[in-house]
Amino acid sequence: MSGHGDPIRMSSQKCGPLSGVAEVPGDKSISHRALILGALSVGETKITGLLEGEDVLDTAKAMRAFGATVTQHGPGEWSVQGVGVGGFAEPEQVIDCGNSGTGVRLIMGCMATSDITATFTGDGSLRKRPMGRVTDPIALFGAQSYGRKGGRLPMTVVGAADPAPVTYTTPMASAQVKSAVLLAGLNAPGQTVVIEKVATRDHTERMLRGFGADVTVEDTPEGHKITLQGRPELVAQTVAVPRDPSSAAFPVCAALIVPGSDIMVPGVSQNPTRNGLFTTLKEMGGDIEFLNEREEGGEPVADLRVRHSVLHGIEVPEERAASMIDEYPVLSVVAAFATGTTVMKGVHELRVKESDRIDAMARGLEANGVSIEEDEDTLIVHGMGQDGVPGGGVAATHLDHRIAMSFMIMGLAAQKPVSVDDGSPIATSFPIFEPLLNGLGAKITRD
Ligand code: S3P
Repeated sequence: MSGHGDPIRMSSQKCGPLSGVAEVPGDKSISHRALILGALSVGETKITGLLEGEDVLDTAKAMRAFGATVTQHGPGEWSVQGVGVGGFAEPEQVIDCGNSGTGVRLIMGCMATSDITATFTGDGSLRKRPMGRVTDPIALFGAQSYGRKGGRLPMTVVGAADPAPVTYTTPMASAQVKSAVLLAGLNAPGQTVVIEKVATRDHTERMLRGFGADVTVEDTPEGHKITLQGRPELVAQTVAVPRDPSSAAFPVCAALIVPGSDIMVPGVSQNPTRNGLFTTLKEMGGDIEFLNEREEGGEPVADLRVRHSVLHGIEVPEERAASMIDEYPVLSVVAAFATGTTVMKGVHELRVKESDRIDAMARGLEANGVSIEEDEDTLIVHGMGQDGVPGGGVAATHLDHRIAMSFMIMGLAAQKPVSVDDGSPIATSFPIFEPLLNGLGAKITRD
């Protein structure tokens, strides 16, 4: 769990060229899903490359509380002895999902159609985030939820004893909501259908199929439609978790803005629902080569060779937002080192992430001498060119790992060092962030 220890103040400063190989850890989204689907299947699921960040470790604990046997065998090597669809036991204790919106929302979904009750909580960041987006659709299955005002945690979910299948159109572009509905649909008889206007990350659909569920996907006039046949017998699998493109984003962006850099980032997902940042960086003039394209752990991946580049601002197409939603914070840092203006529109979902990311980036950029404009749905960064970012400020991270890492990248090329008030949340998703970046030649320190 994050947010329970002391804050860790961190700083980064201008460094020489970055070089070497950046092997980032396993994908966070896929790691959560591997543990959850392992717990919902019959037999022993073996997982390699599991992200051992706090978010995922909290999900592992939660799966144990629902009755699965989850064991670590070595670094990244785990097994899950599942209880089968509909086999969840009622947890004896409150489920603490720490900092993880994905953890709590997916788990609420998959217990919502079992005749059990569970109470969920999280850290100071998670307790501020809206859960109504999951409790609304699980109510259609027959689950009841009792939380704090505004649908906040702590919250108790009473699962449906006699669930009905559901057809649900997601009101916002959210893979967490889509996944919660599909996972609830597993223990409902008949077909559960989710329609999303914009396709979001599709790891749940891919993995459900891999575990033996009947899932079909079609593009219809109403939107991207996913149909799941309820009550499948999920069969334990071997899951090789690929590296996390959202973590790869940090060394990639660092290499683009630090003069003279030339690095390799192997095994980066090219899943079209996740790779919007790399398309955007190329459009800004980023020198990124996609080498050795192949499939790993069911995901298309490539090795990225990234060299320092002179970048220019662009308008990021709104329809790309879902495929790079977690990468806007670091993109807004890169945009500060570009010439001209970068316009990020259609990004209101950033306001309900681990922090209000539009506000956190806007305030931190301003504190470091970068001028921005913002409204509810937009962030605009006025680039200062590769040597023009003053730095020298302290950014508040609001228990948000990606805000902390983004400002640490900024300091590597700014004129003066950049600090964050609390880098401890980095451990939720990228526990080796500092040694990995410093191993490439970065200068990131704990104050
Ligand atoms: C995730 C979905 C996204 C993303 C989050 C991980 C997932 O959230 O921001 O980091 O694993 O499904 P939303 O579903 O809220 O967009």
